[in-house]
Amino acid sequence: MDKYEFRTIGLSGLLLAVFFFAILYNSYGRKINMPTCIPADRTFQRTEVKKIDDHLYEFDIVARMWSYGLYEFVIPPGSTVDFYLTSSDVVHGFEINEKGVNMMAIPGVVNKITATFENPGVYPIVCNEFCGVGHQNMTGRIVVKQD
Ligand code: CUA
Repeated sequence: MDKYEFRTIGLSGLLLAVFFFAILYNSYGRKINMPTCIPADRTFQRTEVKKIDDHLYEFDIVARMWSYGLYEFVIPPGSTVDFYLTSSDVVHGFEINEKGVNMMAIPGVVNKITATFENPGVYPIVCNEFCGVGHQNMTGRIVVKQD
């Protein structure tokens, strides 16, 4: 084998190993909650907010042109939310900047991420994938307040 071929293969392998350990380090070392891809056995047709207990919520979100089905999601401070996200048409984004939440809404796929909202406030949700002429209007918000 040519020595440059050998080096290229070696460097590519090294790079893959670095990416792999970066994922492990971020998930376990830094406890960053990585988005998860759920098998298609957990399906839902429309956006729904489910209260599991006083501080645990489950949001099933179906993104479509150009909304998330609900504009405002209201929860009390200290709530943990499991976000399950899918799309009924094209690929959309789902980003909550302040919480480091950034997922893609993909038709036929459910993505999941968990976030905890300790402090009262308004957390904007934006679509960060270009999804058509109404893309810039595709927003929502999470309102954290005592009710
Ligand atoms: Cu949905 Cu951009």
